[in-house]
Amino acid sequence: MDVVILENSDAVAAEGAQRICTLLGEKPDAVLGLATGRTPLAMYRQLAADCKRGRVTFADVTTFNLDEYVGLNADDPQSYRRYMNRELFEQINIDPSNTKLPMCEPGVNPVSVGPRYEAAIRAAGGIDLQVLGIGQNGHIGFNEPTSSLNSRTRVKTLTRETLERNSQYFDDADGQPLIAVTMGIATIMDATAVLLLATGQDKAAAIQQLVEGPVSAMWPATALQLHETVTVLIDDAAASRLEKRAYYDWVGQQRQRLQSQFDGE
Ligand code: F6R
Repeated sequence: MDVVILENSDAVAAEGAQRICTLLGEKPDAVLGLATGRTPLAMYRQLAADCKRGRVTFADVTTFNLDEYVGLNADDPQSYRRYMNRELFEQINIDPSNTKLPMCEPGVNPVSVGPRYEAAIRAAGGIDLQVLGIGQNGHIGFNEPTSSLNSRTRVKTLTRETLERNSQYFDDADGQPLIAVTMGIATIMDATAVLLLATGQDKAAAIQQLVEGPVSAMWPATALQLHETVTVLIDDAAASRLEKRAYYDWVGQQRQRLQSQFDGE
């Protein structure tokens, strides 16, 4: 795992956007896995600005989002589809038909969504880069603690803590769905590379487990320790409980030193 610690959340957003731009420069038709929530917002704003300035194009990009609530229409203001349209897709030059979420609108059997979503990801050639946030309880996507580390896209019941935290986005508590469809942990592990972003003190415990804890379904993000290419992009606050912090900084310095020898090639 590459643990990159930056001074604040702005630097995390800028670095995350830069990495996506670099990938799209190398592979303009890349398949991106995307997350919703508070964490990636600033990075999406940066990507929108980069796109407007012509620094990056999304014309040939395909995206797959991690998750969506069960029972919300696509145009529901609380749906992740609306979030993604508002925060990113309408701000960049992506073809809307290339943006996918595991939609489960009213009347759709939630059990049918997962296998179809997995097939669509496979048909697109798999995910090149999966962007992740992390829950305070260590969830990635909506893979809550005790999720199978081998899980695939499926229906998941949200924990009380996740519901409570996300209730701030719902005016009417009765309208908040209790279940979601989420990519599974094995789905995420299939991505060629993973970019996990976390900012703020409230993520420090989950980040400590992710990087330094034992692999366990109790902290689902720890499965990423078994992935070959993971970058954990965090700010100082989210890094504050890492026991081997000095080592990660040291690795960063060595990486920069090595890279500078090849700059300009
Ligand atoms: C969102 C998602 C979640 C969030 C996590 C952190 O699509 O899958 O795992 O990444 O709950 O959310 P924020 O960023 O709001 O703290």
